[in-house]
Amino acid sequence: MILNPTDIHVWCAFPDEIQEESLLSTYHTLMTSEEKVQQQRFHFAKHRHQYLITRALVRTTLSRYTDIKPYDWRFSKNKYGRPEILISQEIPPLRFNLSHTEGLIVCAVVLKEDIGIDVENITRHGATVEIADRFFSAQEIKDLHTVTNQHERFFEYWTLKESYIKARGMGLSLPLDQFSFHIPKGNESLNISFDSRLHDEPSQWQFWRINPTKQHKMAISFRKKEKVKLTIKKVIPTCEAKDRLL
Ligand SMILES: CC(C)(COP(=O)(O)OP(=O)(O)OC[C@H]1O[C@@H](n2cnc3c(N)ncnc32)[C@H](O)[C@@H]1OP(=O)(O)O)[C@@H](O)C(=O)NCCC(=O)NCCS
Repeated sequence: MILNPTDIHVWCAFPDEIQEESLLSTYHTLMTSEEKVQQQRFHFAKHRHQYLITRALVRTTLSRYTDIKPYDWRFSKNKYGRPEILISQEIPPLRFNLSHTEGLIVCAVVLKEDIGIDVENITRHGATVEIADRFFSAQEIKDLHTVTNQHERFFEYWTLKESYIKARGMGLSLPLDQFSFHIPKGNESLNISFDSRLHDEPSQWQFWRINPTKQHKMAISFRKKEKVKLTIKKVIPTCEAKDRLL
């Protein structure tokens, strides 16, 4: 599959729909021994299942763009835990980012530039505005307290903020109140502002808000100025060469 510098490909897997025993056994053979150990550390079967599908998704997805076999991918992690491809062969400069939540796993793939993706299941309950009041920027908190769809808006901010810190690769070491998303009321574009301590520039970035299902919100941050083509596909990870799209 061809990936251009102005492409973002997002591959979405729905773990509840992937139950075929023979497929799951194949996925198992794609994991390294470390990944198998890691998988067994999850207490609940549904988390072991999610972990298995995530590993299969990232490995089979990356193999779509090169001749490297799914099992042969190796990854390193930066000091904040961000995985990157570690491979000695000459391959295109692929970058990827993963996110998983109840019922959905996503893998975004691009060439070279920084990408961050986040999905959340918005049916999950628990503190929302309380979290925002504590960690979001003053502008975001103010907006959340004025909108009528507070629950949804909270998850829009959450996924956007998470996608940005993931694109920077620095996780929660980036203070969440030092950058602020501005969600437009009409058709204006979504933008961001940064506290000077973050040393970042809004014009370098593009952002997307997507509702992949009624229960899920997804956001993407991509460090790129040129116009970008975003393609989102639903997939059952497969080791066969042919795409097996639903
Ligand atoms: C680890 C973190 C990067 C994402 O955590 P998360 O939202 O719980 O998890 P997601 O499913 O979206 O992403 C996890 C994946 O991101 C990748 N990842 C891990 N560390 C990363 C980093 N520093 N940068 C980018 N990606 C990272 C990994 O591939 C990981 O999946 P894997 O462990 O199966 O390989 C981090 O931001 C975190 O701990 N967040 C906690 C949630 C929170 O408080 N968010 C506030 C948002 S307002």
